[in-house]
Amino acid sequence: MSSAPVVLDIEDISKSFDEPSARVRALSSIRLRVQRGEFICLLGPSGSGKSTLLRIIAGLVTPDSGRVRFDGAPLTEPQRDIGFVFQSTNLMPWRTVLENVLLPLEIAGPVGDVERAQAVAMLNLVGLHGFHHAYPRQLSGGMSQRVVLARTLVHAPRLLLLDEPFGALDAITRERLNLELLRIHARDAQTSVMVTHSIPEAVLLADRVLVLSERPGRIIADVPIPLPRPRTLAQTGTEHFARLTLALREQIELQADPAAQESA
Ligand SMILES: Nc1ncnc2c1ncn2[C@@H]1O[C@H](COP(=O)(O)OP(=O)(O)OP(=O)(O)O)[C@@H](O)[C@H]1O
Ligand SMILES: [Mg+2]
Repeated sequence: MSSAPVVLDIEDISKSFDEPSARVRALSSIRLRVQRGEFICLLGPSGSGKSTLLRIIAGLVTPDSGRVRFDGAPLTEPQRDIGFVFQSTNLMPWRTVLENVLLPLEIAGPVGDVERAQAVAMLNLVGLHGFHHAYPRQLSGGMSQRVVLARTLVHAPRLLLLDEPFGALDAITRERLNLELLRIHARDAQTSVMVTHSIPEAVLLADRVLVLSERPGRIIADVPIPLPRPRTLAQTGTEHFARLTLALREQIELQADPAAQESA
């Protein structure tokens, strides 16, 4: 992993928002390098700028200072090579599941049999056989998130950004989708940056977990997760897994309470 090329290079990013009532500092001096194929999880309290950081990486928000390089080139606008799964699902209700997945391909050019086959393959990959012609209102929350995942993966983005993709789902569905994400990552090794609020989820998925501080978000811990791949649910019951989640939790506690750090 250490010799893989750097896909994403973030240097000294800061971002504030000027609101009529006050200036909100969302991010401060963020530095981050992500290697090809790496799976990064971002943890941090609500309001610590996680979504803002993903939007900056996606080219949707411009930072006040610092810069983002994607494959060596300055990133200044949204790229087709960067896929984004947003914090809430945004399927088009008047389009079927298949038509929703075809959307990014339609935007890219004419859609023929090849593109349709791609979309169908992606829906099957996320376990939605038999629901291609359903409408979003006929789907459960977990199924909707699967459609969003298929739609994001259909044009094979080289960088995948996921903002709490499974946050609104029940624990069992969420676990199942995490396993699917692991399976997809094992198959295609997309470089991925995912925001989550769950420490065990971060340990199960990530090669590296970054912890953001309270607003303005700074990276206060960068923790490697040396669990072997392919990852399985069985690993979550091991002592190694327990030690990693505990260590991460302690890091977060230490940073949240400097007094604890002094006595540690
Ligand atoms: N477009 C915007 N205009 C004004 N303020 C914004 C905007 N986007 C984000 N903020 C502010 O920046 C801060 C960081 O927001 P952000 O959504 O990045 O946090 P987050 O870490 O993703 O939180 P959560 O875990 O709740 O999703 C918040 O105080 C938020 O109010
Ligand atoms: Mg957010």
